[in-house]
Amino acid sequence: MTVRAVIEGAGHYLPERVVPNSWFEGWLDTSDEWIRSRSGIERRRFAADDEATSDLATHAARAALDAAGLNVDDIDGVIVATSTPDLTFPSVATMVQRDLGMTHGFGFDVQAVCAGFIYALTNANALIIAGQARRLLVIGAETFSRIMDWQDRSTCVLFGDGAGAVVLSAQEGNGTPDDRGILSADLNSDGRYREMLYVDGGVSTTGDAGKLRMQGNPLFRQAVEKLTETADVALEKIGLSGSDVDWIVPHQANIRIIQGTARKMGVPMDRVILTVQDHGNTSAASIPLALSVGAADGRIRKGDLVLSEAIGGGLAWGAVALRW
Ligand code: ACO
Repeated sequence: MTVRAVIEGAGHYLPERVVPNSWFEGWLDTSDEWIRSRSGIERRRFAADDEATSDLATHAARAALDAAGLNVDDIDGVIVATSTPDLTFPSVATMVQRDLGMTHGFGFDVQAVCAGFIYALTNANALIIAGQARRLLVIGAETFSRIMDWQDRSTCVLFGDGAGAVVLSAQEGNGTPDDRGILSADLNSDGRYREMLYVDGGVSTTGDAGKLRMQGNPLFRQAVEKLTETADVALEKIGLSGSDVDWIVPHQANIRIIQGTARKMGVPMDRVILTVQDHGNTSAASIPLALSVGAADGRIRKGDLVLSEAIGGGLAWGAVALRW
């Protein structure tokens, strides 16, 4: 018998405020045409002033529990992937526990920037396989609008706020790629690329949260190369390739990165779940948001092979192959 961590339900939450590209045109030297053609983004959501990352995460967690037909008593732990926590500590995960009324189990955060959900899912899978937990809430939640430099047109038009969540449950499998659940994962990081994407503040340096800094062009080239490589590694581990994939559910940073990666993997774009046009780049939230959207509209079905890949600050990158 092989223990598999199976997604039993997915849910998401987006803040109410929709911000179209035209919003930037009034005060920044940019245009809807530039943003659309370079990134594929048409609009994004920004959290309200009194909405924190834990609020977004809790809404998404409730939606995932509803989709799975479960409640907090069924959950053993909460893992939140985020780089924009409410506070330096405690973790967002413990705030979600509190807000869900969950007084048992454990909660902790994972910080791997845009690759955070891939890292969180891989850790959750390992905890389930090790018998530490039978059911986990795995959440990606971000308020990147809070770390934008609004004078920097090359970054502030790209990011948005939101949260997505899945319920991951231990189930029995046969040990073959036909099993439902997480089938393989590949994680990587390389701190030599720090300057490509970072936030210029923090507790032990400036004492404040800082603003996001990015070298978009070199990062773009690294992204396509590294995402294709990690996706191939995750699939090779289970003896599969791009042609076996039903859905790529990628990190939603830029439509051109997504197209370039899909092309190199030999997967047509009609087998890619896209949300970047509506959500912008929501960092660790983008994959669970896209999983939830794709499942809710009936495209991702039970038994489908799903490949998710992401890259972000660090650089940190990785991929997970799973059967829905
Ligand atoms: N509006 C108008 N012009 C702009 C804007 C803007 N918002 N931003 C930059 N420009 C200008 C630049 O100043 C530059 O002008 P110049 O030629 O006069 O110097 C010109 O547009 C071209 O800039 P490039 O940076 O070469 O544009 P590029 O085609 O590379 O697109 C982009 C920029 C969209 C940032 C792209 O490089 C990219 O997507 N990179 C990857 C970014 C990414 O994916 N980050 C996230 C990954 S990790 C994570 O999710 C946190």
